[in-house]
Amino acid sequence: MTQAKIKYLLEDNSPHKVGSNVTIQGWVRTLRDQKKFAFIELNDGTSLANIQVIADSSLNNYLEIVEKVGTGAALKITGDLVESPGKGQSVELKAQNIEVVGLCDPSFPLQKKRHSLEFLRSIAHLRPRTNALGAVARIRNTLFMSSHRFFQERDFLSVQTPIITASDCEGAGEMFRVTTLKEGEKDASKDFFGKPAYLTVSGQLNAEAYALAFSNVYTFGPTFRAENSNTSRHLAEFWMLEPEMAFANLEDICKLSEDYLRYVLKDLLKNNFKDLELFDKFIAKGLIAKLEHVASNPFEILNYTDAITILEKSNKKFDYPVKWGIDLQSEHERYITEEHLKKPAIVINYPKDIKAFYMRNNDDDKTCAAMDVLCPGIGEIIGGAQREERHDVLVDKIKAMNLDPKTYQWYLDLRKYGGAPHAGFGLGFERLIQYATGMENIRDTIPFPRAPRQADF
Ligand code: 4AD
Ligand code: MG
Repeated sequence: MTQAKIKYLLEDNSPHKVGSNVTIQGWVRTLRDQKKFAFIELNDGTSLANIQVIADSSLNNYLEIVEKVGTGAALKITGDLVESPGKGQSVELKAQNIEVVGLCDPSFPLQKKRHSLEFLRSIAHLRPRTNALGAVARIRNTLFMSSHRFFQERDFLSVQTPIITASDCEGAGEMFRVTTLKEGEKDASKDFFGKPAYLTVSGQLNAEAYALAFSNVYTFGPTFRAENSNTSRHLAEFWMLEPEMAFANLEDICKLSEDYLRYVLKDLLKNNFKDLELFDKFIAKGLIAKLEHVASNPFEILNYTDAITILEKSNKKFDYPVKWGIDLQSEHERYITEEHLKKPAIVINYPKDIKAFYMRNNDDDKTCAAMDVLCPGIGEIIGGAQREERHDVLVDKIKAMNLDPKTYQWYLDLRKYGGAPHAGFGLGFERLIQYATGMENIRDTIPFPRAPRQADF
């Protein structure tokens, strides 16, 4: 008897040959009783496809199986692998023994084949057992592992930056407070950390300290934003992948971002083709062709100023009027990538007044060395910059944004003690998954989404 995972049974070059005896464990997707025998579709999460099991009525617990076992039940099945006469599957399992591990109450909500993604969000503890969310989870896993591999292969040190912080990295005041003060107590000096503390919005500032010791680093962890935006692209808790390179400039991170995206998408096409086919078929027609195109063609690099000119010349009526100095809104980003370029773009050199304090001022005194990677259908998936490495310029920038230089003392030290030009970016991991799957709503790309008024499960 060999324990087998269903994905290996179904592979063309399966290590389990026809005729071999195997044991599988998983959950029933469907059970059809044909009187003389029953067909059971079993799934163990290792692949999108189920294996078909034939349960003959001669099995000693046959009656229990057809009467009590339904969709959702957990089974352990031993049997012989046989060639399948049916279309769409190469092998099936002829059961010799079926152990009912866990029955499934008839109230199990996943009885029918298709449910709306919205409904599935209300049963986030059960939705991983559907085809769509199962495929998302496997795609997420592949992207997670190939992200690490990409940076490890390039000698980037993986660094774990803190989740609780006292500094607002983005200076945008969108932080969740962390406190042990009781209701009515206001004195922050009596709080756990002796001052106000928050959940981090980005690991960047800490990653910079490590980049200035290890040259190239990356941090990949959860980040938190208390922005009250109930959109299909925002989460209150999301994962961010943030590489940081010392002795590097804007051009270097543009190249890194493009190499990274192409690498992980290629890997995904190689490892999760069947999962991607599901999305291509039911969620986003043409998805695979799009990913293949992106994985093998250069991105467009565009100056912010040129992006504005393109928008002005478009003769389109935007909700947010276009003029030099505005922050690009999602409608602008989408016009540029979906209608004008029809591919991802890296927009660089944004006006300094609309970007974060740490971005390096350009010599024109109007723009800064920022970069955003914009993708069709999503908009921004990466935001980054060359960092301001000049101590005094940085102090002025902190003050100009009404932030307190005292809270950034340690960060300023990095410019005093062997400071070096450095640059990095942050990739919104769920936005990448959205892009890779074509999922409309970011809440379907993370197992248990956190958003305004949504912290169940
Ligand atoms: O552009 P952002 O705000 O950049 C930073 O936080 C930098 N400190 C990163 C760095 O340079 N190390 O965020 C980076 C990315 C965005 O491009 C977007 O993809 C994602 O994080 N993001 C969100 N994803 C989901 N929900 C939200 N509320 C997000 N806010 C940003
Ligand atoms: Mg940004």
